[in-house]
Amino acid sequence: MQRTEKTTLKRSRTRRASSTRWLQRQLNDPFVQQAQRAGWRARSVFKLEEIDARFKLIEKGEAVVDLGAAPGSWSQYAAAKGARVLALDLLPVDPINGVEIIQGDFLDPAMQVTLLERLGGKVKTVLSDIAPDATGRRLVDRLRAEAVGETVIDFATQVLAPEGQALIKLVKGAETRVLDRARPHFSKLRLIRPKATRSDSSETYLLASGFRSTEPGDDQPGT
Ligand SMILES: C[S@@+](CC[C@H](N)C(=O)[O-])C[C@H]1O[C@@H](n2cnc3c(N)ncnc32)[C@H](O)[C@@H]1O
Repeated sequence: MQRTEKTTLKRSRTRRASSTRWLQRQLNDPFVQQAQRAGWRARSVFKLEEIDARFKLIEKGEAVVDLGAAPGSWSQYAAAKGARVLALDLLPVDPINGVEIIQGDFLDPAMQVTLLERLGGKVKTVLSDIAPDATGRRLVDRLRAEAVGETVIDFATQVLAPEGQALIKLVKGAETRVLDRARPHFSKLRLIRPKATRSDSSETYLLASGFRSTEPGDDQPGT
């Protein structure tokens, strides 16, 4: 990856020290710079790109659900590869060609029903890059990540076609419960830490693949 000169910001009376640190990190992050040059909305696209290159998650014509989609780089990536994408986030997401966008809370059971209705059929891939607000308290953050991860697994078991897959962001410590929830439904579980993950981040991704559907008549992969 191309490197550029390090940018150092001067202290400012109107900017908090934490904001200066964040801005400086953004300005010096090669993944941020590369994403901007390529027109991706977030550096997270490189995590999905790496995992997709290894495990072939996104394919032309397939249906994909993107949970926690804002600002939209994963949806951009999936749509650019020709997938049909349904994206959801608490925050608004600017329109993307080929992507249906819903604003709402994934943890709200009514929203999960809305997603199922909008999909109207099975999908090959569920993506979740949902990051619950971090409190800095390790236990609380772990419990929140577990709740999201388990809910995504439950949702995935309702929408995935046989042999489908789910890619789910977790934080370290939340893996055990989410793996336990996923194990009966998937033939392969992998924990992955992509290169674009920041070195100080506790995030890790669970790729659950080979979905075993128990629904009668669900013996053919579909979209
Ligand atoms: C790391 S960002 C996702 C980045 C995105 N994958 C991309 O490439 O642009 C995490 C997102 O999760 C969303 N989020 C957190 N909790 C959520 C929830 N309960 N329902 C829906 N979205 C949620 C946040 O609003 C935030 O936009």
